[in-house]
Formats: sequence, structure tokens, C-alpha cells
Amino acid sequence: MAVNYTAKWDYKGKIAWITGGASGAGLGQAKFFGGLGAKVTIVDIRQEAIDKALDELKALGVDAIGFKMDITNREEYIAAADKAEAHWGGPPHLLINTAGVNSFGPAEASTFEDFDWILGVNLFGPINGFVIFVPRMIKAYGADIKAGKTWAQICTVSSMGAFDGYSTDAPYSVSKAAVNNLSYSYYDALKPYGIGVTVQCPANINSNIGNAVDTRPAHLQNTGYYVSEGTKNMLKSIHATGMDPVDLATKLCYAFENGLPICIPSYSNDANALVERSAMVEQAYNKTLDWMTVEGMAKIKAAEEAQAAQMASFRKKWEEEHPGEAPPSMFGPPPSDSGVPMEAFGVARPELDFVRAESRKA
Ligand code: NAI
Repeated sequence: MAVNYTAKWDYKGKIAWITGGASGAGLGQAKFFGGLGAKVTIVDIRQEAIDKALDELKALGVDAIGFKMDITNREEYIAAADKAEAHWGGPPHLLINTAGVNSFGPAEASTFEDFDWILGVNLFGPINGFVIFVPRMIKAYGADIKAGKTWAQICTVSSMGAFDGYSTDAPYSVSKAAVNNLSYSYYDALKPYGIGVTVQCPANINSNIGNAVDTRPAHLQNTGYYVSEGTKNMLKSIHATGMDPVDLATKLCYAFENGLPICIPSYSNDANALVERSAMVEQAYNKTLDWMTVEGMAKIKAAEEAQAAQMASFRKKWEEEHPGEAPPSMFGPPPSDSGVPMEAFGVARPELDFVRAESRKA
């Protein structure tokens, strides 16, 4: 069901800069804001994906250009920003930090390179965007914004992973927690200039992020995580059920046009439910508060014991009903279309024998 929202601001002739714009959420933003008349620059690390995305955008009548660059490389970032500014005649009115990567494995197996790659793209990429563009946006548009003649807005795509720590995606959740915090700081700082700052925290997007490891640079290949075509297939099958990227862009637009610093896109089937006050975030904050007291920890322990007892009872019932059969695994899906069977992701490489067997590839 298409999202039901009509944009209120005027996008005709406004300049947009979208990192990761060749795929997934970023391409959805390029289609949505370009479709409203914005002049769009997409930047991405994959040239062939940029070419394909520009063809798609052109077919939709979007005025777009694209540059291959690595958002973690400051020289490349500045050079591309200068080229886009020369092309369009100004810096972006709409800066969207979307490019991001992930890879999953136990925290204890993580290497420096796992942290450097994921934090480099997901945190330092947006930091580079803020540092390079904020002064340019204030100088170019500050006076006109004050006079009510134009607008400027910054968005960053984070994740629901920002609100908690997770044993199998430490670098990713660290990067997303930090990028949320970055966005909150700039939200306060840029309020006096009239520049809006919004961070969007989706749960699952129909995108190509399952292939993110293919963009990992040569000097950061050393990983503690087990990665194979099978783990990629598993991720791809999960993301295939994610939110449509243009719907996600529509929800982002609703959030910033309504002055929301945080956009939790609603996964409800109701086309009018655009964002939500997330129960998951409330749960994560309640857990954090419980971690601060002895009583809170006792409450958590009791809940964990109740959950373990419930799982044991389900298992006993299943074994009684299926005598002699092995219980189904959470990770036992059918083979993927590619013919390569899916494999569980989030485990360590087999040779890391200090990692407990349950968290390691056999
Ligand atoms: P995607 O893989 O379809 O798009 C990300 C794009 O970023 C790719 O085209 C990739 O080539 C590009 N990229 C990667 N490293 C780069 C670099 N160093 N410099 C320039 N470009 C680079 O994935 P998706 O899902 O659209 O990701 C967009 C954002 O959404 C990311 O920040 C991701 O963390 C976030 N997100 C994704 C979720 C999902 O379920 N797919 C859920 C929550 C958040």
C-alpha cells in the first residue's frame, strides 16, 4: 500500500546531495525528492550502480548527476562536493547521509578492521558530510532562510540498532548510536539558523545491504566474522521483506517537514501511519534504566528465567509430538534462488577457537 503523504515544501530547483544514492534507501530518496523537482547528486562507491541508478532516474525525468567516491575519503568528498556545487550553482539545500554498510559477528571476534570499516562509513561518512557542507549551507542559504525565502535540511539514515547494544553487531550499533547523537547535537546547533536536522531509524529496508561486504576495501579485509555467499543470501532474504525505499523517503519527508528530529518509520499497513513513537525504543530505554539498579537487574533476571522456562516447555512439547526427530532450527531456511544454500550470519570464523562453539562457524 503506497504511503499517503503529499509533500508541503517546494522542491523545484532545490539541490539535493545523497550519499549511497545508487541503491536502496538512497536511490529511493533520489526518486522521491527528484520526482518533486529537486536537482539531485548521487554519490556512491560503486560506479556501475551509479550508472544504472542514473538511467533509472533519467527515465523518471529526474535531473541528476552522480559521482563515484568513498565517503570516508575526505579529499574525494571535498572534490565531489566542489564539482556538484559548480554544476548546480550552490551547495545542497537537502543533504542526506544515507550510505552505510554492515557485517555481523560476535563482539568478541571483532577486529580493528571490522570497527574501522563500519565506523568509517556509517559514522565518519556522515561526519564528513556535516563538516564539509554545514558551513557552505549556512553561508549560501542562512540569510534567505531567515527571510523565509528558502529552506535547508539535513537527514541521516541511522537504524533501530542505534538504541541498544547487540552481541552480534557491535560495530554497526556503535556507529548508529553515535550517528544519532551526532544528529541530535547538530539539531540543537542549527536550530538558530533555521536548518532542520533529522535522523531516520528504519528496522528493515528492501535494499542491497546484504551485499555490503563486497564494498569492503582491500586494506580492511581482515575480519573476525564468518562471511560466505550463504550468509549473504540469508541477509538478502531478510532485506527482501523490508520497507520499500520510496515509501521510506516519503516518511522521511513527512518527519522533516513536520520538524521531527527523529523519524521512526512506521511498518504499519495503514497508509496514513507514517512515523511512530516506538515501543522498541521505550523497551530499550527501560532496560537501560533497569541496568542502573539492583532491583532492575533482579527484574531482568526473572524475565530471562521465565523466557528460558517457556522455551524449554515449547521444546518438550515439540519433542513429545515429533518423537525421534531433530527440532527445527531457526536457521534452516530453504536454499536461495542462486542455488547457494543460506547460512546463519552473526557467527565468528571457524579458526577463532577462543570464541564459544555456539557463536562460531563449525
Ligand atoms: P544499500 O547497500 O542498498 O545502499 C547503500 C549504498 O551505500 C550502496 O550503494 C553502497 O555502494 C554505498 N556505499 C557503501 N560504502 C560506501 C562508501 N564508503 N562511500 C560511498 N558509498 C558507499 O543499503 P541500504 O539498506 O539502502 O542502506 C542505506 C542506509 O540504511 C545505511 O546507512 C544502512 O545502515 C541503513 N539501514 C538499512 C537497513 C536495512 O534493513 N537495509 C535497516 C536500517 C538502516
